[in-house]
Amino acid sequence: MPLRPPLALAPAPPAALALWLRAAAGPAAAALCAARLPAGVLLGLGRPLIDKIGGPHAIPALQSMHDRGGEGGAPPCPADQAELWLLAHGEDPGAALLRARAALAALGPGFSLIAERSLYRHREGRDLSGYVDGTENPTGEDAVEAAIIGEGPLAGSTFAAVQPWAHALDRLARHAPAARDALIGRRAEDDVELEDAPPQAHVRRTAQEDFAPPTFLLRRSMPFGGLAQHGLLFISFSADAAAFDRVFGRMLGEDDGVVDAIFEFSAVIGGGHYWCPAIDEDGRLVLGALLAPAS
Ligand code: HEM
Repeated sequence: MPLRPPLALAPAPPAALALWLRAAAGPAAAALCAARLPAGVLLGLGRPLIDKIGGPHAIPALQSMHDRGGEGGAPPCPADQAELWLLAHGEDPGAALLRARAALAALGPGFSLIAERSLYRHREGRDLSGYVDGTENPTGEDAVEAAIIGEGPLAGSTFAAVQPWAHALDRLARHAPAARDALIGRRAEDDVELEDAPPQAHVRRTAQEDFAPPTFLLRRSMPFGGLAQHGLLFISFSADAAAFDRVFGRMLGEDDGVVDAIFEFSAVIGGGHYWCPAIDEDGRLVLGALLAPAS
């Protein structure tokens, strides 16, 4: 059966709804196998659910996200690994909601909602801080190579890292525009990279070519929230399950003690790793690697 084009490769839509779910006691594997998901939906399975269904040897590259930071000047970064993560794209928030409802109906009654976040596009793909987000993303064939597993039992699937960040925009506003640009390493006005960006600037901590081997993430983050709390739901896809942890480790200064300046105005409030199986043209999840793990 031919596969749907992976939703990970689609640009971030005008609106989306992200759901975090838990499997109730019962046959989660049967429900996942039987589901026919609507188009425009992506499903990610966390380690706790994979352990329940396929056992500890299934999808061995996938680890739960754990709390990090809290040492050497890096702020604490709590994780909240869930069993299942669902992302529904939409042309507007209503369309995303209806698509998420259709996906939940397809999954059946065996899954319960833990949390949800309504996501939206801000200007032409900017973070709420005003900075263009996604400029250095790989594109075309490079994006496919970076994000989608090309061969083997996991072919067509991808690993997602999903991490909500809450912004303190008043803290950002206290800085003059040039000092704000130095936190990111790019100019808000025209997105040009600063040649003299300091070592703690976000783009210097995360520069993808600087890793050995180079570590490319396909980022599809989107803003969320209202007045009380708002920020960025960081979403990245990679064919390498450990890629996010390497980049995030540098943001925390785990290698050289230099902590990413983005923490000046934003804080991690959760996070999880998910394996997103390919979906065939009928909307069925391709779960062979989960149900019959290679021994
Ligand atoms: C509050 C959270 C974050 C915000 C607002 C943010 C924003 C940005 C912005 C404005 C850029 C520059 C333009 C671009 O290339 O996209 C950027 C680049 C980048 N970010 Fe983030 N980011 C956040 C968190 C993260 C996290 C958690 C990671 C991964 C662990 C990450 C990885 C990257 C990478 C790989 C680049 C491209 C670096 C390069 O090769 O030039 N970001 N981010």
